[in-house]
Amino acid sequence: MNILITGSAGFIGFHLAKNLLKKKQNNVFGIDNFNNYYSKKIKKKRNSILLKEKNFFFYKINLSKRKRIENIFKKNKFDIIFHLAGQPGVLYSFKNPKSYKINNLLATKHLCEVAAKNKVKKFIFGSSSSVYGDQKKFPISENSKKKPINYYAKTKYQCEKIVKKNFSSKEFSYQIFRFFTVYGSFGRPDMFIHKLLNSIKKNKLISLHNHGKNYRDFTYIDDVVNVLVKSVNKNFQNDILNICKSKPIKNNKLIKIISNLYGKKAKLNLIGKVKGEMLVTHGCNRLLKKNMKHKKFTSIEKGLKQTIKDFKKYNM
Ligand SMILES: NC(=O)c1ccc[n+]([C@@H]2O[C@H](COP(=O)([O-])OP(=O)(O)OC[C@H]3O[C@@H](n4cnc5c(N)ncnc54)[C@H](O)[C@@H]3O)[C@@H](O)[C@H]2O)c1
Repeated sequence: MNILITGSAGFIGFHLAKNLLKKKQNNVFGIDNFNNYYSKKIKKKRNSILLKEKNFFFYKINLSKRKRIENIFKKNKFDIIFHLAGQPGVLYSFKNPKSYKINNLLATKHLCEVAAKNKVKKFIFGSSSSVYGDQKKFPISENSKKKPINYYAKTKYQCEKIVKKNFSSKEFSYQIFRFFTVYGSFGRPDMFIHKLLNSIKKNKLISLHNHGKNYRDFTYIDDVVNVLVKSVNKNFQNDILNICKSKPIKNNKLIKIISNLYGKKAKLNLIGKVKGEMLVTHGCNRLLKKNMKHKKFTSIEKGLKQTIKDFKKYNM
């Protein structure tokens, strides 16, 4: 099977590619432009691990350039696409909205149109829990009202619509997954867990938003990858599914667990609420469990233990 993964040098794309490459009948094609939103060193390290496999093929291209995508589709025929490339980050969307327009909206539009024109049957898109915004009722189910409160979330919701528009007809199928705060080895340095690990390592102060009272539905990367891999052989009914553990943790509690496992305390700078940030993310995973038969989620202790072990081993 020929599988295309966009954002293959990114956190989730890398772990997904690594898993799919284990099956030697799979050819995995990765696309990434190694953008500099966070350290290119990590992206290059992830890519170098993937390039060790004979069945991995990599294209360094920018998905906002339509011609470059068309050239790749001329050379290869893909059975399925995982679209995980994009501009993530909630707070950065206030600083650099243009990057979200280009790397989320434009990139997704180009990829979807070229893929549909080339009759790729299955399209899987990595969306975000942020499309729900601040909710009052928990856990948040897939049909809860969407109230995106920052530009990142708005573009992700718009991308979902682009995917639906291109892959809703009978000859195609799509699957949209809304990820909830994914963490694990080689995690993103702009996200809380790796930010905290880096600050502990360097004895630096870390700002703790909302005095550590935000809740996040931390979901371990292996659980996410497990679901994504299962979706390769599944017949979709054009679904939207949350991927979440559905057990949110207060950041203050998370810091205690991490400090204990690391063996060193974090230096915290307590600050108030931050504009555009959700106070609680707590997804419902009932549909996910039913449709994808993923019943057991990794405990936060086990997931963090592995994350910290690899953080110390690889120094990233
Ligand atoms: N990690 C999470 O907790 C989380 C939560 C919700 C949603 N998501 C979504 O899942 C997807 C993957 O997230 P991630 O954590 O792996 O992010 P990531 O930033 O680590 O990976 C994204 C990759 O896409 C690449 N990229 C960006 N724009 C590109 C372009 N125009 N052309 C080619 N490559 C481009 C980047 O270089 C990067 O390597 C993203 O779309 C993100 O919005 C992630």
